[in-house]
Amino acid sequence: MSASIDLTHADLLGDDAVRDPYPLLAALREHDPVHWSPRYRSWFVTRFDDVSDALRDPRFSSDRISPYRRAKLDGPDADPAVRAAFGVLEDWMVFKDPPDHTRLRKLLSRAFTPRAVDRVRARITEVTDELLDAALAGGTGRTDLIGDFAYPLTAAVIAEVLGVPRRDHPRFKDWSDQITGLVFGGMGDPNRHTAGAHGMAELTEYLTGLVRDHEREPADDLLSALISARDDDDALSQDEVISTGVLLLFAGHETTTNLIGSGLLALLRDPGQRALLAADPGLVGGAVEELMRFDGPAKTVARLMADDVELRGRTLRRGERVFLCPSSANRDPAVFEDPDRLDITRRHGRQLGFGVGMHYCLGAPLARLEASVAIPRALDRLPGLRPAEDELRWHPVLLSRGMLRFPVEFDRP
Ligand code: HEM
Repeated sequence: MSASIDLTHADLLGDDAVRDPYPLLAALREHDPVHWSPRYRSWFVTRFDDVSDALRDPRFSSDRISPYRRAKLDGPDADPAVRAAFGVLEDWMVFKDPPDHTRLRKLLSRAFTPRAVDRVRARITEVTDELLDAALAGGTGRTDLIGDFAYPLTAAVIAEVLGVPRRDHPRFKDWSDQITGLVFGGMGDPNRHTAGAHGMAELTEYLTGLVRDHEREPADDLLSALISARDDDDALSQDEVISTGVLLLFAGHETTTNLIGSGLLALLRDPGQRALLAADPGLVGGAVEELMRFDGPAKTVARLMADDVELRGRTLRRGERVFLCPSSANRDPAVFEDPDRLDITRRHGRQLGFGVGMHYCLGAPLARLEASVAIPRALDRLPGLRPAEDELRWHPVLLSRGMLRFPVEFDRP
């Protein structure tokens, strides 16, 4: 397989690789593990040890928004709405290095506690069941497990965690779609910044009002906890509360939607593993971990070189962009036996789908909880569940891996 792939022009956004990136990633991992892509003017790092080391190495900087803003958005011709949208992104801890990152992470960790996750446990089951009831009641024996199940579920959960009133939940879909274009991009789409800026402006305006309401009347939710989080004398400014709210709303559901969708697909394609999980629900924790490893949502994680670094005989120069590939690291045969096989009983605990090091995903416990409720319940409650189409369409983006839609059929009760 690998011999037939021309690695000079390896393109993770080619049609075949968008559908199934793993053969191309395997070829890169084996033959060109620190790969320079002329097309994206970026490096792609694919081996487990290299990805893991780079994620902990401060020379691989997360501060990748402010250089862009300085280069492209500080001039007189820049669209002020796009500049404002990037201003919000610039406050996201995921795009910061120490000491700014350390400060924001500490304050958010004070607010986003295991208790905040625990509070929504029952609600996750409730919303999951409401959505499955609606699919069953539809009477067609068909549904879209992304648009009609995973997406509304994860959006409702993170909105609920934050303290967004239920009546406002439907408004989040459009804002979130637009912001996704801004953050994940389809490289080369000229409209994505303008659409993203529009969504960001509306969402920040909405959150500004919500923060004001919460300041007046604190509630038992994450937004109130963010407003009151303290580290000695330090606290989040109002702008930081708002941009952290946007970060959580965004990070909290796009990725988890993809995990639930791809996880269900992997199990539907592997009846043996599906039967194993049905027979022993206690396997669900390991199953979610394995589904993260097997086809998780973080295809790549971007960094900007803060210094020159030698890696496997290549020189990554200061200022160059690097895509670290958890999707490839998680299939590295040097770490995982028979890596292309789904095995929900696998004992590993080392997959890199939530990152590692100082930026390790703060929402991992919530994502795991949502997937561990939603995946088995959908399999259990929709009788004879099966994909409705052989060809599935995947998001054509470098950073994230997920289906646009997942049409399925089930036996009508
Ligand atoms: C399956 C679902 C999820 C996946 C695959 C995922 C993946 C990741 C990854 C790979 C990172 C590290 C990024 C980097 O190193 O640059 C990260 C960071 C982060 N994630 Fe998640 N995530 C998921 C769900 C969530 C949820 C549900 C939330 C919040 C409710 C969340 C909030 C965050 C935050 C705040 C960070 C930034 C942490 C920091 O910079 O210190 N994520 N996530």
